[in-house]
Amino acid sequence: MNSAIKILFVGDIVGSAGRHAVLGLLPGLLTSHKPDFVIVNGENAAGGRGITPEIAEDLYSAGVDAITLGNHAYRQSKAWPMLDEDPRIVRPANHFRSNPGRGATVVEKNGVKLGVLNLSGNFGLDAAHPFIAAADSGIHELGSKSDLIFVDFHAEATSEKIALGWHLDGRVAAVVGTHTHVPTADARILPGGTAYITDVGMTGSRDGVIGVERDLAIKSMTSNLPVRFEPASSDPWLNGVLITTAGPDSAATIEQLLLPA
Ligand SMILES: [Fe+2]
Ligand SMILES: [Fe+2]
Repeated sequence: MNSAIKILFVGDIVGSAGRHAVLGLLPGLLTSHKPDFVIVNGENAAGGRGITPEIAEDLYSAGVDAITLGNHAYRQSKAWPMLDEDPRIVRPANHFRSNPGRGATVVEKNGVKLGVLNLSGNFGLDAAHPFIAAADSGIHELGSKSDLIFVDFHAEATSEKIALGWHLDGRVAAVVGTHTHVPTADARILPGGTAYITDVGMTGSRDGVIGVERDLAIKSMTSNLPVRFEPASSDPWLNGVLITTAGPDSAATIEQLLLPA
């Protein structure tokens, strides 16, 4: 692998607004940026709750090479066989090994093998195992099979994300954070060469509360009644990052994409 590799990563796709945003904007992004790989986080793609095989297929048809997930990975039980059988989709590696799916995978394109590792934070999320040990074993597993490694760290705590960025600096091409649905302003190349951002943000309606209809979110916060969340739909945006590598374990640039759909 001699030449620079471009990776487009799209943050948590939320509901139909998010799906339409990514499917609508992706053709233009493919033309203007010519990424070698497109990775999206799809944990909220099906009505905010998980992903279905049909949605995954729509994303692949639009040019997506790999899908990462998070704490909503198993919300659609009809996706479970896909998680076991489809090597293009990963759920957090530090979930129980007995859960459907895999936490690390390799996607190959134009002779380049890209390792994709998905991890969950431990603070505020139900992950079975500590994330740093899972990161080390995931990278060990991918190291011999891939030319470069991309990590989606799906976590609530900014401190866990920053810690993992430092822990993996110089060992992977990129560590990007997801889950909070709010983009952070700290995209940079760490001293060891790893591209890093604490949170990429989400792809969905900016008129809600992190993708949820705002009246429903406010109702749940002003009562003790159960509220079924529905995704918001108006003012959709795509939040993503574009990473250009400098070598197998280093990046030259990380550029934030914040685009109205
Ligand atoms: Fe999410
Ligand atoms: Fe999440």
